[in-house]
Formats: sequence, C-alpha cells, structure tokens
Amino acid sequence: MPTVTFKGQKIECEAGANLRKTLLNNKLSPHNGKAKWLNCKGMGTCGTCAVKIKGVVNPKAWQEKWRLNFPPHHERSGLRLACQVKVWEDMEVEKGSGFWGQHI
Ligand code: FES
Repeated sequence: MPTVTFKGQKIECEAGANLRKTLLNNKLSPHNGKAKWLNCKGMGTCGTCAVKIKGVVNPKAWQEKWRLNFPPHHERSGLRLACQVKVWEDMEVEKGSGFWGQHI
C-alpha cells in the first residue's frame, strides 16, 4: 500500500486511490480556507485542490492540463490537481498558500 505524506502525517491507501479523496477521508484537505466548501467536488474545474507532489504520478489528462493553464495557475507551476491524481506509489504532498494554493 502506498503512503501519502501531507502536513506531517503519513496516510496509507489502496494503490490507485484518488489523492483528494484519500486526504479528505483522513480529515485532511487539499483546499485552503473557504475553498474547503467552495470547490467543484473533484470535477477538475475549480483548481482549488492544487498541490505540489514529490513522487511518481499519473500523467495529466486534458482537463487537468486545461485547468492548470488557467489563472491563477500557469503551466510552469509544476502543481497537480489532487482530485485528478491517483496514488500508485509513495508521495509527499505540499499545499501552497492562497485560495487555490497557487503560492508554493
Ligand atoms: S476539487 Fe476542483 S479541481 Fe480539484
């Protein structure tokens, strides 16, 4: 089982688990402030679940690429949308500041 490290906690999950759901199921959130309620619930459209990931992850699908090329995000940020990431191997996850977590 892969391990997700986030905010000093280590969470084990099933291989292929959705990163956003894994965090939420463990009382953690990839969202900041009011974005915890004002988000697209994992549809990949709001961009508020953006995180920085160290580890091997699935390639971006078209929707994630589109959202991460749309302000306040930009292509070169290196961020990923937690709701679009599957956990296949151990990873370290970091959340930036700002409504979208865009400031890493
Ligand atoms: S929850 Fe909206 S893009 Fe991930």
